[in-house]
Amino acid sequence: METVVSGIRSTGKLHLGNYYGAIQNFVKMQNEFKCFFFIADLHSLTTHPTPTDLHGNVKQVLVEYLAAGIDPEKVTIYVQSDVPEIAELYLYMNMNAYLGELERSTSFKDKVRANPDNVNAGLLTYPVLMAADILIHKATKVPVGKDQEQHLEMARTFGNRFNRLYNHDYFPEPFAFNYSDNLVKIPGLDGKGKMGKSEGEANAVYLSDSPEVIRKKVMRAVTDSGPTAENQAKPAEIQNLFDLMKVVSAPDTLAHFDEQYNKCAIRYGDLKKQLAEDMVIATAPIRERIDAIANDAVYLRQVAKHGAIKARESAQKTIKDVREIIGFRGF
Ligand code: TYM
Repeated sequence: METVVSGIRSTGKLHLGNYYGAIQNFVKMQNEFKCFFFIADLHSLTTHPTPTDLHGNVKQVLVEYLAAGIDPEKVTIYVQSDVPEIAELYLYMNMNAYLGELERSTSFKDKVRANPDNVNAGLLTYPVLMAADILIHKATKVPVGKDQEQHLEMARTFGNRFNRLYNHDYFPEPFAFNYSDNLVKIPGLDGKGKMGKSEGEANAVYLSDSPEVIRKKVMRAVTDSGPTAENQAKPAEIQNLFDLMKVVSAPDTLAHFDEQYNKCAIRYGDLKKQLAEDMVIATAPIRERIDAIANDAVYLRQVAKHGAIKARESAQKTIKDVREIIGFRGF
């Protein structure tokens, strides 16, 4: 059976981009594959080296994983920092990762631009840690959004390079995965790029947002003054709203507003109202479960402990092999 690994950084609440880009696939994959889903708290230190509430953020992601339907009986759910073997593999992998290729990573360049005062070595080697996350379980499938594609390519490079350097066909190649043909990129509400945490509160709709908050955010989404000619191409901010609708609404709802747009009869207020209601409906079951699980400290502790044991079992096997392959042997 193929092995699946994926993770989400513990930098706070999860949004619709995380859900449709990643988690929705996790929930389906857990019935078909051997899955490891984790909370990337080590990765969160690259951008937030002194987090104010690291534990609270980790808990938030754990709660939302469970609320979204990831079943700890079927998969291994764990916290990255509970598995020190990942950090060990990261160290070995760092020896085979070159400065030039790390500097060329798009997400590294974006982060340097956004935060020039915090260009630390962890940020530079972020893709190496990510490769270690994946290779530690010898995974071949990695459910992620479009923005992670380049990181997956680097994970393949580092795995293949290890195999070549030590002349061992050890690590299989991991590939980004989505059930639909393409990896997805969920747009934000600001009319520009993707939905994301760092793009400002109003840009993202969170799984834990109340219906009122969702309505408010969507009604404030950026639009233009409307089409002036029939069948004209949609500007980015309008296309974004249609793309969001494609994800949360029924196909005939989307077709209806598309037709209205093409006839120059569209009322953006109606479209936004409908989009907000469909988002409220799509997130309602998750929101309810978040509330139900969030205070169950005993259950959360049990899930995290059990997950750490299972994840370490798998990780220890790999580390034992890797140490042998590199040539570390006891006396
Ligand atoms: P992170 O925490 O930024 O995002 C978690 C997952 O959500 C997806 N995602 C999106 N998908 C579509 N549209 C969006 N607007 C959107 N925003 C976020 C991301 O693609 C990702 O799948 N480096 C990873 C975490 C990680 C990881 C790993 C993933 C660490 N180690 C090993 C897979 C395997 C990250 O920062 O994701």
